[in-house]
Amino acid sequence: MVREPERAEYAPHRRTAKHAMGSRPACRGTMRNTMDARLRALRARRPDEDIKTFVIRDAEADAVAVTPQRIAEVSRALFDAANAPGYKLPMLPDTAAESMRMANDPTVGMAALERVVGRDTMLATRMLAVANSPAYATGERPRSLTAALQRLGTGAVRDVLYQSVMECHIFRGDDEAFVRAERAHAVYVGHIARLVCQTVGIDPQFAFIVGLLHDIGRIVFRSLANHPELAKADPRFRAAVFSSAHAALGSLMATKWSLPGPVIEGIRRHHRYRDFAADGGYSQIGHVVAVADKVAIALGLGRPEAPLSETDRAVIQEIGVQPDTLLLTARQIVSRF
Ligand SMILES: [Fe+2]
Repeated sequence: MVREPERAEYAPHRRTAKHAMGSRPACRGTMRNTMDARLRALRARRPDEDIKTFVIRDAEADAVAVTPQRIAEVSRALFDAANAPGYKLPMLPDTAAESMRMANDPTVGMAALERVVGRDTMLATRMLAVANSPAYATGERPRSLTAALQRLGTGAVRDVLYQSVMECHIFRGDDEAFVRAERAHAVYVGHIARLVCQTVGIDPQFAFIVGLLHDIGRIVFRSLANHPELAKADPRFRAAVFSSAHAALGSLMATKWSLPGPVIEGIRRHHRYRDFAADGGYSQIGHVVAVADKVAIALGLGRPEAPLSETDRAVIQEIGVQPDTLLLTARQIVSRF
């Protein structure tokens, strides 16, 4: 059974009656005004403002014989350290940041996008390679950036650009196996998040980028490895703190990168998309990515394979799709990669 969200942060309306969640119909203008107001409120809010900033799982606290409060305390210390004026968060180079900004602006045309991407040789090369990958390429392979962009069309260009920026500038490092797994998981979750939106009739505009960046907090967490609270910590304690803090750290990074509100929200809510505020709360984009993350793990995509639990199945059903059907379709899509 599908439940009506108590209070949506960002919930583009469903496009088909078939999958409607029972919400009251609203005229397009009213819907847009309400959404704009929500987005304005979301942008104005600091990433650590709500009452349940960190997701603490009692079982994880029990496993390392610490209290949930201790995990929350260390998570808060890490968040404050990453947010301190002197701390250098991983940032995007200017061209990449500008490209991302332009990709997020629907009024920016293909020619302008191509000019900016063309200034960054590494980014342009990567973009061509992604456009030629089986996920996007159909028919003859485009040989120039212009041809690739035209072939893809504006919607896919943005997703390819997001992926290329991340692959060039963020999913990099000496630990090759780690980077490869992170990149694979991120890209697959992006594609599955888009599939979830298309299946249940949710606007997929931000689905890919949120899926791609949902665990970006992992990079911030690694950059804090020498923090006094982590440096000599038990590995299980570190894992519990990571589990608690990475969504908030990721949303902090997305905020510093000036990414759109729905992207920040999706990263922040991908483990707790419901009941994060004093009066409840529901994040549709967070729910979409939570579902995509679970499906990607069930298929062993960039993470150790783990079958869906009953709780996972309930999360998937709650968004309006049958878990086994989604698994099957997702498997078919990723087999094309
Ligand atoms: Fe996560």
